[in-house]
Amino acid sequence: MRLLLATNHPVIDAMILKLEDEAGIIELERSLKHDGLAKWAKPILIVDEIKYRERLIEKGKASRPDVLVLYDKLPGTIEMEILLEEIRLEVKNEESKDTRIIFITSLEQGSPLLRKAVELGVWDIIAGTDVRPIDIIKRIYEPGNYSDAARFKLAPEAGNQIKRAPVISEIKERVVEKEIEKLVIREVKEVKRQRIITWWSASGGEGKTTLAASQAYQLAKTTGEKVALLDFKEANPACNYWFNIIAKDSLEIINAIEKGCLNQNILEENIVTYTKAPNLKIFTGVDLYRINAWGAEYFDLLQSTLKYPYIIIDTNAGLFFSGTVSALQGADTISVVVEPTYKSIEETLRWIDFIHDKWGVPKEYFKIYFNKLSFRTLDEDTLKKGFSQYHIGGCYKYSDSVIEALNKGNPVVKGFENLTDGIVFSENSMKKTNNILSFLKR
Ligand SMILES: Nc1ncnc2c1ncn2[C@@H]1O[C@H](COP(=O)(O)OP(=O)(O)OP(=O)(O)O)[C@@H](O)[C@H]1O
Ligand SMILES: [Mg+2]
Repeated sequence: MRLLLATNHPVIDAMILKLEDEAGIIELERSLKHDGLAKWAKPILIVDEIKYRERLIEKGKASRPDVLVLYDKLPGTIEMEILLEEIRLEVKNEESKDTRIIFITSLEQGSPLLRKAVELGVWDIIAGTDVRPIDIIKRIYEPGNYSDAARFKLAPEAGNQIKRAPVISEIKERVVEKEIEKLVIREVKEVKRQRIITWWSASGGEGKTTLAASQAYQLAKTTGEKVALLDFKEANPACNYWFNIIAKDSLEIINAIEKGCLNQNILEENIVTYTKAPNLKIFTGVDLYRINAWGAEYFDLLQSTLKYPYIIIDTNAGLFFSGTVSALQGADTISVVVEPTYKSIEETLRWIDFIHDKWGVPKEYFKIYFNKLSFRTLDEDTLKKGFSQYHIGGCYKYSDSVIEALNKGNPVVKGFENLTDGIVFSENSMKKTNNILSFLKR
């Protein structure tokens, strides 16, 4: 069964955070068996995850899921009612049948949106403020029917009142009580262990590639896990210079995509392995002479084909290339490089507003890095004030040694160590369990 996730539900997130103890997992596994819940250990393939509404239709059409888990508070600017209609019209499974929607909501029965959902044939509605992951898992396997959903339509009109989801502390208490749910969600976490970090700036030359290369290299070294650095800078990709490697022709990847057979193995064979950190793979980009054969949607395909825990993407400055658009829309963190000038501050703020307003990318996805500071430039405090509503990732001085490293073909490390802060998955979340719950796979 193919499953598409479009949820940032707080219950799931909070439970994922809570799961830390391997011994606890084994015990929970026993209780799952004891309660006869092991019957759910049938394979589910999580085909993709959507982080905001604007991406849903496109990703749904590409991944052809049987079931879509959709949360009504998924970030984005498209009205949920319109989105539901579009899903109904456009998103089908591999047999061209309607994708079944499991709709998680805290709206009241009879609210206009839920009435509409039922009319559209959305009969798997999980409502209330105490949604349990086990309810979601059950619904994946056991579809609801009209009589399950009728109360949401037939109840007296409830207005558009939205109840707040429970606060994290309440959720944590419930986690302690409901061990079985922990178990199931633990596996969801394994599946969701992927970060896609895009490096972007409003103007050229601010330091995107320098920082992206450094971050990818340091992640590979410190975690030992698979890291991919994808150069999405169109026409003039340049990541190879930071690693002293020869750029690889993208022709084989283009051929595989055209034949419809691109998979992780083929992709790995056709990107560069960095010998100093063999778990770091580098897609050196699409050369000027290949750009005509390279479809805009190929950038999305590269991202979704690599099931790596860490994907770092380098882009063009500005918003005028399809590689940049793909990287910005696919990322869960957009690392923005800013030079210490008023020009850079103003341009960057304007562009971020645009990306947020037009595409619905949440502002909390942006992380700001100041680069090339010296005693003649704007100082750190002034820069931080300009971006007071954003996360600040780091602040780096102008240094000749950065240019020296580039000429030697080395990613910079010294002075840039904090590029991996807050990014590395915790040790416990990295452990692969081989238990009966390993039924959710990407
Ligand atoms: N902290 C720094 N100190 C000194 N030089 C730096 C620093 N960061 C980057 N540079 C230099 O600035 C130049 C531009 O950096 P880089 O290529 O990383 O920018 P970019 O944003 O990727 O540019 P483009 O938009 O062209 O892709 C390079 O020569 C790089 O070595
Ligand atoms: Mg660059």
